[in-house]
Amino acid sequence: MVCLGNICRSPMAEGILRAKLLASGKKAIVDSAGTADYHVGEIPDYRAIKTLREKNIDISGLSGRQFVVSDFDEFDYIFAMDATNYRNIIALARNETDKEKVSLIMNLVNPGQNLSVPDPYFGGVDGFEEVFNMLESASEKIIEKL
Ligand code: 4NP
Repeated sequence: MVCLGNICRSPMAEGILRAKLLASGKKAIVDSAGTADYHVGEIPDYRAIKTLREKNIDISGLSGRQFVVSDFDEFDYIFAMDATNYRNIIALARNETDKEKVSLIMNLVNPGQNLSVPDPYFGGVDGFEEVFNMLESASEKIIEKL
């Protein structure tokens, strides 16, 4: 799960997918990262933590990290939250195999529409609720795929 800062959208995506995996009994390794290094080592934004705590998902122990090229080797699927994240990840790809792993997460729900999960960082709490709803529907699609 990849966004810009790895403190709002992608740690929420990580927490939501992990919770859905637990409930489903399926197993997968889930991680998140940011394309930027602004928040490396930081816990998620307090609004992201609060939004998920209300859904009984705890992401307060996560720590921000930057996306690295070796993530292409570690993971089968790389989900970008928005079009800018997508371009920045693709720019790091070494070959077609790397590129094929990358997709916009909302294309799971709305195939071919290239919708972005809006960056909630500069907005209010409503933005985090919208992000939760979008990522919950996308996570359900991932569980179906696995
Ligand atoms: P995220 O949100 O990409 O969903 O983690 C952001 C967090 C921090 C910044 C931008 C977006 N920032 O500019 O510091």
